[in-house]
Amino acid sequence: MHAQLVLLPGDGIGVEVVEAGVNVLDAVGARFGHTFEYQRGLIGGAAIDATGAALPDETAEMCQTADAILLGACGGPKWDNPRATVRPEQGLLKLRYILGVFANLRPVRVQPSLADSTPLKAEQIRGVDLVVVRELTGGLYFGKPQGREEGPNGRSAVDTLRYTEGEVKRAIHFAYRLARARRRQVTHVDKANVLASSRLWREIHHEIAPEYPDVKHEDVLVDAMAMHLIRRPATFDVIVTENMFGDILTDEAAVLAGSLGMLPSASIGEALNRHGLPRGLYEPVHGSAPDIVGQGIANPVGTILSVALLLEHSLGLTAEAQAVERAVDAALAAGLRTPDLARPGETRGGTEAMTTAIIERL
Ligand code: IPM
Ligand code: MG
Repeated sequence: MHAQLVLLPGDGIGVEVVEAGVNVLDAVGARFGHTFEYQRGLIGGAAIDATGAALPDETAEMCQTADAILLGACGGPKWDNPRATVRPEQGLLKLRYILGVFANLRPVRVQPSLADSTPLKAEQIRGVDLVVVRELTGGLYFGKPQGREEGPNGRSAVDTLRYTEGEVKRAIHFAYRLARARRRQVTHVDKANVLASSRLWREIHHEIAPEYPDVKHEDVLVDAMAMHLIRRPATFDVIVTENMFGDILTDEAAVLAGSLGMLPSASIGEALNRHGLPRGLYEPVHGSAPDIVGQGIANPVGTILSVALLLEHSLGLTAEAQAVERAVDAALAAGLRTPDLARPGETRGGTEAMTTAIIERL
């Protein structure tokens, strides 16, 4: 197959991990006989520096015609002034919004070989295989009004948490369809004891659940979920929740996998690419990690597993996706460790060593 992919390295270690992802894509292409054509675009702080906009029109246009997009990370201390009107993260949010990728899948699997890399007990995390479906284009991230004011009583600021029925329904249906292809269990996470938007989510969840009688379901309050995710992570299959709860819970879930550097994500909507599959946006869950940028030690696994998700969801290349996942497992089992995964005394490799080890095992 021939696919047209857009690469958006963005800022900080985004550049390093996307390079690793491209090396894996090229290796998959060579091994399985596909050609991947790349177009590179600017986003985030790098785009602000070059053009003044966090998502230049040129980038937006190339993404809207690509088969899929691989993104690194947006943001960094250079652009962190809280009073700035243009912020790197706005580029990412706008891209998610214009692509209409409302469902953000964040799978969390525990590699047996990394059981020692987490601060949790091995028996607590054994068998963890869950996926968070985070609603990605609504809620606090996009609600209006949003902003600051200065009044007689000083400064104030407002964010708005609004969801429409349609936004909630499509996210919940997405989660149930995904559960049917997995272990048939949905955990809906909200704060229905306090928030009106959460009560709407819960109400709609209860209307939809009977349409999937073969799928077990539960509602869990988000504060309790923060605890259950650590205490009984292996009991979850598909977790569905609104935008901000999903953002927070997935950083927490990363602890289960050993490091935030391990988690991939796929963002999917209704738009289809020229292969008749979703035009997805694929990115590691981690950020731009300014503290380690340029040192060649960023963990590329989150991005490489995002490449696997891209192959599967946007290109329909399931065998290729599985080959990448197995190669990651094998490299980790062989003891490859970036510093975020290494325990004291373990040999640490960099981004390149990890990527090469994965490619060798494809
Ligand atoms: C994520 C990130 C982003 C988010 C930031 C960089 C805007 O934390 O993808 O989880 O909050 O969605
Ligand atoms: Mg986040």
